Amino acid sequence: HILVKDLYRKTEEYADKQVTVGGWIRTVRSSKTFGFIELNDGSFFKNVQIVFEDTLENYQEISKLNVGSAIIVEGTIVKTPEAKQPFEIKASAITVEGTSTPDYPLQKKRHSFEFLRTIAHLRPRTNTFSAVFRVRSLAAYAIHQFFQERGFVYVHTPIITGSDAEGAGEMFRVSTLDLNNLPKDQDGKVDFSKDFFGRETNLTVSGQLSVETYAMAFRNVYTFGPTFRAENSNTARHAAEFWMIEPEMAFADLNDDMELAEEMLKYIIQFVMDNAPEEMEFFNNFIDQTLFERLVNIVNSDFGHITYTEAIELLKKVNHQFEYPVEWGSDLQTEHERYLTEKIFNKPVFVTDYPKDIKAFYMRQNDDGKTVAAMDLLVPGVGEIIGGSQREERLDVLENRIKELNMKEEDYWWYLDTRRYGGTKHAGFGLGFERAIMYMTGMSNIRDVISFPRTVKNAEF
Ligand code: 4AD
Ligand code: MG
Repeated sequence: HILVKDLYRKTEEYADKQVTVGGWIRTVRSSKTFGFIELNDGSFFKNVQIVFEDTLENYQEISKLNVGSAIIVEGTIVKTPEAKQPFEIKASAITVEGTSTPDYPLQKKRHSFEFLRTIAHLRPRTNTFSAVFRVRSLAAYAIHQFFQERGFVYVHTPIITGSDAEGAGEMFRVSTLDLNNLPKDQDGKVDFSKDFFGRETNLTVSGQLSVETYAMAFRNVYTFGPTFRAENSNTARHAAEFWMIEPEMAFADLNDDMELAEEMLKYIIQFVMDNAPEEMEFFNNFIDQTLFERLVNIVNSDFGHITYTEAIELLKKVNHQFEYPVEWGSDLQTEHERYLTEKIFNKPVFVTDYPKDIKAFYMRQNDDGKTVAAMDLLVPGVGEIIGGSQREERLDVLENRIKELNMKEEDYWWYLDTRRYGGTKHAGFGLGFERAIMYMTGMSNIRDVISFPRTVKNAEF
């Protein structure tokens, strides 16, 4: 089969040639003697128009096909310079692969994204989702290309883990125990020694701790996989299952980390603009009319930098505007992040050196005793897209922090070993893949950039 995308791109080459295309019917119109089909073959969000005549032996059958049917068309490419589409296919034969029914949910009209979420198994057949998931696929490819070109080793870190990488207690439990009949020990606590792994386990919230150990062998590494958080926040940018890109570099500090993050983000954006120009134009026309301007501006500008302490000073001046006023020590909410990146910088901005009490245990403590060498990248429209840090490489400082936070030290013995045996300064970050896709497409809800979203009270499909 020929791809419709190629027909659009190389119409001259295919003109008057015989082609075969397979796809799904978007509309059928017919009269007594001829008809039109708008066909989508999945290679492109644009349809191809099929003209068919009653010279086809199955003309009646084709005329009565319902929207959604799958067909294979053989025919000739005819250029139509006067029409909306630059060409059409004059069918010489149409084979029906699979019929559809009149209650097919995707009739030709505008459907809301909310409605389309209820048919997540069919929504990839719409223009918007066709464009979103093609861009998502290309962005994943761009990320691998970016790191591979730079010699980073791709490490597959485990999905099931025994530790809490972020120490935030937002984990999904993994267990084979019978919930209705849990084995108990003498103190009445659940006896996890009876569980499959003989211990408590959960789905990973981040591959970082595992990937750090590989950075201590390969220097530059990355992991890119699904991560899971049982965060009870029902927002447009939180999912319980999301994908994260986590590079880690040995012999690197926070500045190296921010340089890598900026270079990577610009690379992905440029790659997608170069390789999906039609899809990006679609987003710019129908989803967010400032998209191109914004993305071009990002590729060409230097990202901003501000410390957390400076950011709080700025935000305090406009505290009356916020639902949650800030003071030194408070975590930045989306409203504050967006104010900084949209009102003050109008471009992506790195916020650095957060108070240690609102950040994870592994971040390197600064000399002031109050802050850590952390960085979050905030972007207009989305807020936090990247979280990263230089890691605490000093064994004693790290051990003390784990004790201070009442974490189970015995769960982290292998992690601490990397500080015992040839530890060195190192740094890394995590890019939320869905947030990056939202940012690049202008889509405003995380549920619409992941195939089958998992959010609070929602794990259908
Ligand atoms: O800031 P976070 O929690 O950082 C980490 O997990 C570090 N271990 C990363 C590292 O240094 N290797 O998460 C990183 C990014 C966030 O900036 C955000 O983009 C995304 O992951 N993220 C989520 N995306 C969707 N839904 C959620 N519930 C998310 N939580 C975090
Ligand atoms: Mg974060």
